Amino acid sequence: MNWLNMRVRSLREEAAGILGIELRPAEDVPLAWHWEPGAHVDIRLESGLVRQYSLTNLAGEGCVRLAVKQEETSRGGSRWLHERLRIGSRLEVGAPRNMFPLRDGQGEVLLVAAGIGITPLLAMYRQCRRDARPARLLYFTRSPAHAAFADELAGDASARLVHGLDGAGVMARLRAELPAWRPGATLYTCGPEPFMATVLEQAEAAGWPAEALFQEHFQAPSGEVVTPSAGLELVLARSGRSVQVGEGETLVDAAARAGVAIPTSCGMGMCGCCLTRVLAGTPEHRDQFLSDAERDSGEWLLPCVSGCRSGRLELDC
Ligand code: FES
Repeated sequence: MNWLNMRVRSLREEAAGILGIELRPAEDVPLAWHWEPGAHVDIRLESGLVRQYSLTNLAGEGCVRLAVKQEETSRGGSRWLHERLRIGSRLEVGAPRNMFPLRDGQGEVLLVAAGIGITPLLAMYRQCRRDARPARLLYFTRSPAHAAFADELAGDASARLVHGLDGAGVMARLRAELPAWRPGATLYTCGPEPFMATVLEQAEAAGWPAEALFQEHFQAPSGEVVTPSAGLELVLARSGRSVQVGEGETLVDAAARAGVAIPTSCGMGMCGCCLTRVLAGTPEHRDQFLSDAERDSGEWLLPCVSGCRSGRLELDC
């Protein structure tokens, strides 16, 4: 991972419970990163925790901008940022990576966000506006006070903000707002998993093909992060070590017990930091990172979450 020391240049309350953060290189050098909308960065917190946040701004502004929601169930990431960050604070920031890119072309773009899911979609919306590409944004929030970037979106005929609906209301509104699919059109959604599932379901009902639908995962879907089968023999070929995977252990944990540190970042199968080559064995993929083709090849695995279908797994580490 390519880490850069950055300094907080400004903080702003974007909406109730959402903190806007502008970061610039700490050493006053130009920011050399380029990224496409949908990209995120890793932020390494004082405690060593690493968290991913979408970039809300486009490349070329000399800074990165994030919007962080204070999660009620925060394990220290968003809470620390909200409570401890000050103008001038330093943070280590990983180079942008993009697992949720806006597809090329001039086809119409439909963006459907809920809550803090607005962050990657706002960058996509800004890019479309800049490129004069047709785009519509539909943004669901709990109340007007919870709507981030409302000043920018107010009065924009292509952006619709919807507040305070329950599940049935969201579904009815989607049914009313989602147009029938037209060739070249793509739809991107980001928000809580059940919300995205509803969006995709309603889009499919409106005739959108699966290949035109894209969703962002802020966290691995519930129930998908499971541990590999206990008793699996894990062979770490380059280090010449092997270890039995214990009950409740990830492959990364088991390797660490054998003295082999596999680098990790998100620990949720999302960032690709722990990507490792498989030399033997049949991986059971549980990540959100690999493409279907990479999974089918059996050549790579994300050991922070994935397991193995065979009794023995040999990794190149
Ligand atoms: S640490 Fe992020 S995918 Fe494994």
